[in-house]
Amino acid sequence: MNAKKIAAEHAVTLVESGMVVGLGTGSTAYWAIEKIGERVKSGKLKIRAIATSNRSEEQALSLGIPIITFADIDQIDITIDGADEADHALNLIKGGGGALLREKIVASNSRKMIVIADERKLVRHLGKFPLPVETNIFGWEKTFQRLESLGCIPTLRMEGERPYITDNNNYIIDCSFGEISDPPALHDRINAIVGVVENGLFIGLASKLIAGCDDGQVKILP
Ligand code: 5RP
Repeated sequence: MNAKKIAAEHAVTLVESGMVVGLGTGSTAYWAIEKIGERVKSGKLKIRAIATSNRSEEQALSLGIPIITFADIDQIDITIDGADEADHALNLIKGGGGALLREKIVASNSRKMIVIADERKLVRHLGKFPLPVETNIFGWEKTFQRLESLGCIPTLRMEGERPYITDNNNYIIDCSFGEISDPPALHDRINAIVGVVENGLFIGLASKLIAGCDDGQVKILP
């Protein structure tokens, strides 16, 4: 069974008419957007949504999900998004799909952030997955060196022959730290580097994790 789809469809049961919904990015969030689209199309669900990437926005619009902006609302009611890794305190690494900046803006402006993932994304310690850091293009070489001086092996994310460019016209540097012993401290040290726009550590933002299993079950934390 598709563990990502199972987690995503379970999360969508939490979405109610009248809500403003944050739509995540990635192959797990894809299934949540499909399911929301199906419920919207049936006429049983009336929501408005803010997407975390151009890709997710296009998918939502193609399914008839109304897209709004932050100018239209005070707060998002619920955001459903994937993760690259999650620990048991619900600290996350995100940004494997390159959308971490918008994902963090959306998550920090949401009453609830529901994380959906294949159960294999749940780890004891974050850090096996290289931490994505979105950086300004100007001076990126220096930002790269400063990240390296924090003790990681940095790699500029590429798309074919060229550097990968985010929806916000920035680069991403993927930083292999190995096991991250103190995620909040590392989060702050990275964001203190001039040239860093945002990093993929999501600390204290997730309200719930719904992990899908191959046997069709879900594990829910907390
Ligand atoms: C995109 C993300 C994704 O949520 C993360 O990469 C997980 O992706 P997937 O659901 O495809 O495994 O942070 O920036």
